[in-house]
Amino acid sequence: VSQQRRSGVGVWLIGGRGSVATTAIAGAAALRSGAVTNTGCVTEQPDFAGVGLPPFDALVFGGHDLTSTPLTKRAEALVQAGVLPTHLPTLVHDDLLVADAEIRHGIQTGRGARPRELIDAVVADLTAFRDRHRLARVVVINVASTEPPLSSDPAVEGLLPLEAALDAGADVLPASSLYAYAALCAGCPVVDFTPSTGMRLPALDELARNRGLPYAGSDGKTGETLVKTALAPLFASRALRVRSWAGTNLLGGGDGATLADPHTQESKVSSKQRAAEEILGYGVNTPMHIDYVPDLGEWKTAWDHVSFEGFLGVRMVMQFTWQGADSALAAPLVLDLARLVARAYEVGESGPLAALAFFFKDPVATQEHRLVAQYDTLRAWARDRLTVPA
Ligand SMILES: NC(=O)c1ccc[n+]([C@@H]2O[C@H](COP(=O)([O-])OP(=O)(O)OC[C@H]3O[C@@H](n4cnc5c(N)ncnc54)[C@H](O)[C@@H]3O)[C@@H](O)[C@H]2O)c1
Repeated sequence: VSQQRRSGVGVWLIGGRGSVATTAIAGAAALRSGAVTNTGCVTEQPDFAGVGLPPFDALVFGGHDLTSTPLTKRAEALVQAGVLPTHLPTLVHDDLLVADAEIRHGIQTGRGARPRELIDAVVADLTAFRDRHRLARVVVINVASTEPPLSSDPAVEGLLPLEAALDAGADVLPASSLYAYAALCAGCPVVDFTPSTGMRLPALDELARNRGLPYAGSDGKTGETLVKTALAPLFASRALRVRSWAGTNLLGGGDGATLADPHTQESKVSSKQRAAEEILGYGVNTPMHIDYVPDLGEWKTAWDHVSFEGFLGVRMVMQFTWQGADSALAAPLVLDLARLVARAYEVGESGPLAALAFFFKDPVATQEHRLVAQYDTLRAWARDRLTVPA
């Protein structure tokens, strides 16, 4: 085994055959081959040179999913949807086969299995993956379908010790939290790229700190919220009073189908709604809804209508429309996060990584939602905490 492979970094994707995962795996292979440019990759900017991030060719992919549709087929579907360039699946075919062979069947709650058995199986998969490829570290990233929010529960509120919650039954904790728990047990940092519960249990936060493992989350910021957190500071700093900020989101694709369920949609809406109020510092009416429009495929449209007030109470309106290829926006961030969190773990960072708020709609351990301020924090953190000493 070469020195390079020994220093490899595993990227274990929960939801490893979904659109975001497939685009990330295919994209990393394309970057490695030099066939595409690094547009959209935050960590490829000069601000992150010399930080000691693992290069793209050090990343080794694996994951869990519930579907058996192989990555090669998913990549073809993403070409049809206009997300991946036509020639890409052929170009990265072998890389997709290699990654697909590392995808294991994942956790399904509600089928009577004991949580501890589910967790043990995930720990075994992660440990075997790390050993098989002699990886220095494995970062676990959740890009699986969004789960509905948890009802208030003693385990969730930290009133029931985690161990007791695990013994209480299969469905007390959602799959995202069982995966997160297993990742920590296997010594892996965790990234919650979805709004699912995942690491957001007090007991898991404590476990991560105790084990010296960093984690990041939640819910990748790729569209409407990205624009919102860039624009809201404009109103705040110019002392313009926002009266309402209404948003309509039209989604196709697997994510849209999952979010068509009103209960599941609650997770996304609540993760999207926090930013405006926290940036503006006062209560704002922010009605927001998500519609599933299968015809849009992998594309998403967000239309926002901002009603605001200026000097002498004059009322004005700003509107924007954002049309994005969801997975093309999310995939490079998944790669950025894998590199940053792997490096953070290497240099001894532990617990919630507030400095990564830039990437998330509902960031852990910080109230900072302003995009530019988040970028400044990220850059300073990478320079001061991650950089290899000269
Ligand atoms: N695309 C974006 O811009 C963006 C931004 C922020 C968050 N996200 C989140 O990323 C996630 C993935 O989005 P997507 O477009 O790839 O969705 P997708 O539907 O294409 O993929 C989700 C995958 O998760 C798998 N899955 C479901 N339950 C699972 C389980 N218990 N264990 C393992 N795998 C499981 C599904 O089989 C599917 O392959 C969603 O939760 C979405 O909300 C996406």
